[in-house]
Amino acid sequence: MSLDAVLSKIDEDLEQATDRLFELLRIPSISTDPAFKGDCDRAADWLVKDLESLGFSAAKRATPGHPMVVGHSGQNGPHVLFYGHYDVQPVDPLNLWHRDPFDPAVEETPAGKVIRGRGSSDDKGQLMTFVEACRAWKAVHGTLPGRISIFFEGEEESGSPSLIPFLKDNAEELKADIALICDTGLFDRDTPAITTMLRGLLGEEIVITGPDKDLHSGMYGGAAINPVRVLARIIAGLHDDTGRITVPGFYDGVAETPDEIRAQWEALGFDADGFLADVGLSKPAGEEGRSVLEMIWARPTCEVNGIAGGYAGDGFKTVLPSEARAKISFRLVGTQDPLNIRENFRAYVRSMLPPDCTVEFHDHGAGPASVMATDDPAFETARQALSDEWPREAAFIGSGGSIPVAGYFKEILGMDSMLIGFGLDNDLIHSPNEKYDLRSFHKGIRSWARILHALNS
Ligand code: BES
Ligand code: ZN
Repeated sequence: MSLDAVLSKIDEDLEQATDRLFELLRIPSISTDPAFKGDCDRAADWLVKDLESLGFSAAKRATPGHPMVVGHSGQNGPHVLFYGHYDVQPVDPLNLWHRDPFDPAVEETPAGKVIRGRGSSDDKGQLMTFVEACRAWKAVHGTLPGRISIFFEGEEESGSPSLIPFLKDNAEELKADIALICDTGLFDRDTPAITTMLRGLLGEEIVITGPDKDLHSGMYGGAAINPVRVLARIIAGLHDDTGRITVPGFYDGVAETPDEIRAQWEALGFDADGFLADVGLSKPAGEEGRSVLEMIWARPTCEVNGIAGGYAGDGFKTVLPSEARAKISFRLVGTQDPLNIRENFRAYVRSMLPPDCTVEFHDHGAGPASVMATDDPAFETARQALSDEWPREAAFIGSGGSIPVAGYFKEILGMDSMLIGFGLDNDLIHSPNEKYDLRSFHKGIRSWARILHALNS
């Protein structure tokens, strides 16, 4: 079967493909905010219709949260399950965007053309690379290659509450020979990658209460305990002076990176200074004595994602607040046990509470790290196909982000995952002005066409 004709079709059709992506990007499918529930539903409908136009039997599948989209095509040949998520992160702070986040456009930048808009990179632009590869294939050959199932989720950015029950209830239908997950990045502009290590994630929110009402800080200050001060001490105590996390037992299950992997990473020539300089930084702030790549791919972290208490609005208010809160997340590696860490973290927080203070904990999810098995021959096939498309050989890399579905595919469906994506570190995912390079979109579509061709040869 001719691959060249499919690749040419992709090149010819890029503008229309971009327009189709824009239709999806215009739907503000923010999963975490109930105000956008109808939009999540609309995004799912849009995808069902698009998949049907390619010959998939596709349907929107209800869950207690946002719907899943599932589609199937073909009976014979290798069976792949393609996963992406159609939900996006909230857009705030809106004033930092230089255009409406849901009015996408191609913009010229010094580094080339980019598609600007929320979800352009995470993950609508990425999932459409696969859909567009299917479209070009179908246009050239009249059918789709092999056996393809599609699985789009609408709750990834809000902790996937419906995912496990859905996988359990539909295990037979969803199990394939291998899953293809398109929600990760390139190693750099020219080097494609298959991500084989993902960090786990534990989310905790703590609410500390002192006095039973907000007080005048002149009348009560000095005599009354201030929960913001208590919270600040707790947070300050989470790291020691060398950047290590102090929660007891935290490093159980964290192994040193094997020399062989370390050597592979060295050979990638990661530009740590450039990585930091891109975001206005110059000094790595993780554990002493570790490389930047190790810090983000192979070491666990504890970060404060949000903090609130008292008056932080315009002007000034001499308040002694009743309450202080923080959202704290831990990225996990190796065999670190999220539930154990949660328990030890909570015990630490309780041990730091002075008299008259109480704490409430809210659970924001817990999942372990995962390492992909790379012995399936599909890995070598895909690595070769990617290397044919991009200027440099494809690399096996780690990722600092978390994609819990890969672990669930293994656990619930017994299926390995290949994580292939075309995002860049400077795509500003989850931030204002998110973008996806037009080159990522274009070469991403071509990459999937090559991979599908190679898997079916
Ligand atoms: N696509 C990202 C994960 C990612 C980020 C992969 C950077 C590679 C590089 C995904 O949508 C995401 O943001 N996941 C969340 C986890 C989820 C449980 C909220 C994350 O990593 O914070
Ligand atoms: Zn994502």
